Amino acid sequence: MPDQQQHDVLIIGSGAAGLSLALKLADDANVAVLSKEVLSEGATLYAQGGVSAVLDEKDSIESHVQDTLITGSGLSDPEVVRFVVERAHKSIDWLVKLGVNFTRAETNSDSSSPFHLHQEGGHSHRRIIHAADATGRAIETTLESSVRQHPNIDLYEHHIAVDLITTNKSSKHESHCLGAYVLDIEDNSVTVFSAKNVVLACGGAGKAYLYTSNPDSCTGDGIAMAWRAGCRIANMEFIQFHPTCLYHPMAKSFLISEALRGEGAKLILKNGDPFMQRYDEREELAPRDVVARAIDYEMKRLGDDCVYLDISHKSSKFIEKHFPTINKRCLGLGIDMSQKPIPIVPAAHYTCGGVMINQNGQTDINGLYAIGETSCSGLHGANRMASNSLLECVVFAHAASEAILKSLADITMPGKLTKWDESRVTDSDEEVVVSHNWDEIRRFMWDYVGIVRTTKRLQRARHRIKLLKSEITDYYGHFRISKDLVELRNLSVVAELIIESALQRKESRGLHFTTDYPIVKTSETGENTIL
Ligand code: FAD
Ligand code: SIN
Repeated sequence: MPDQQQHDVLIIGSGAAGLSLALKLADDANVAVLSKEVLSEGATLYAQGGVSAVLDEKDSIESHVQDTLITGSGLSDPEVVRFVVERAHKSIDWLVKLGVNFTRAETNSDSSSPFHLHQEGGHSHRRIIHAADATGRAIETTLESSVRQHPNIDLYEHHIAVDLITTNKSSKHESHCLGAYVLDIEDNSVTVFSAKNVVLACGGAGKAYLYTSNPDSCTGDGIAMAWRAGCRIANMEFIQFHPTCLYHPMAKSFLISEALRGEGAKLILKNGDPFMQRYDEREELAPRDVVARAIDYEMKRLGDDCVYLDISHKSSKFIEKHFPTINKRCLGLGIDMSQKPIPIVPAAHYTCGGVMINQNGQTDINGLYAIGETSCSGLHGANRMASNSLLECVVFAHAASEAILKSLADITMPGKLTKWDESRVTDSDEEVVVSHNWDEIRRFMWDYVGIVRTTKRLQRARHRIKLLKSEITDYYGHFRISKDLVELRNLSVVAELIIESALQRKESRGLHFTTDYPIVKTSETGENTIL
């Protein structure tokens, strides 16, 4: 490979956000897409429930906007929410045209949509279009096959971006992004990728936690790179915990879609008692923060390792048709969900915060964009509503493509950029430092910065992350980089951002819940309950 690659646009990440953008750009620009694993690997591939959009005439844009705002607990930007919701139908049409095989409505359906629609937490209507329970796979593989055929898209699998290359900001000049240093994971060499525009589409940071529904790629690389380059990062305290991940030693936090609750599945205790009615009038269909906290509280109250999700009122035929992936996984572990409840626990699922962007996906640095889970667009506020994320990926990919294409003629290609300097590092003799620190971060983030927080626990976490970060920075300065080291360094930055953001928020709101600032609910008779 030449020591400097040049493209009009460098997209870092190949999930729903990155690949949608690549396809939108490629007829008019020459595009590079980086993926640190095989192209299809990332959170998108594992998405189950679907994509939210107003597709039934009984539903309305207004209702989708209101549900999103309520779930976002007062911190979503109403203008952005409307911007995304209004573009949902068009985004679905685009995916259908590409060939995504969404599940069709049944012939006796009372919906005006040709597609079957699920309901999930926070949504007051059925509005989740899906491909059975493997929507992400249907989207990702369709995007992948189109991208692989496009002559203007160069794909670099097993290439991990290490850091952005930017000009320095001065009193006279804004900072501009010129490219990135990229490690070829297979031959261990670092190359300069230069581009007129760079896009972070690296996904979220669920791997900062010991238990997560996220795949291994979700180490917050985009957020950490943008932070080091000088971008503003917002809302990192709002880490979403999905209420229902399979509890089984062999399951590695396999997700049990919220769509089961949309079909009437009940959350029950070991003794069979339902409990959600004690926490929220929406019961199982309350937003995720409420449901995850209720489960966490019940598990701690009873000293139980899990609670259960019961969908045994549905026939095995219904389950096989609507939830084939989940059914197969459960049957493989000896759980027949048509007969008995599924053991579940909450796990870290979604990073609501991220790199601050405007409605075109532009960050604080010229020529640098961020889209998808890496970004903080203002859509999710303090809590993301189910199935709004894949939607955000596609809407912002389209918006960013328009802004990027408009800008290309005015930007000159960067010249020769400074090469990666390895003259002062050697091969590591202590790989154990990387694996140990990785484990330690994930463990204390789970214990101290989890579903229910206290200031004291957050301060403990702050103390630990400071020590670990200085150890990791020292290690990074002395040894040749590897994928694991790059990810660990990023994870430590993201963990610190989560902790500091959580300490700064002096209230409980949405996904950030601390017993030092309890929410007091006053009943109609004037009684106060501390939640
Ligand atoms: P991802 O799909 O995670 O892709 C990120 C890409 O960036 C990957 O290709 C990765 O390899 C690459 N990458 C990362 N860092 C680097 C680097 N340094 N260098 C090079 N490449 C890099 N949302 C919904 O709306 N509906 C659902 O039904 C739904 N279900 C979900 C189920 C599960 C189990 C999970 C985990 C999430 C679910 N979500 C769902 C959330 C949603 O899937 C994600 O938010 C969304 O797919 C993120 O897409 P993305 O393109 O931003 O990132
Ligand atoms: C699910 O299917 O429960 C996941 C949906 C989401 O995260 O939006």
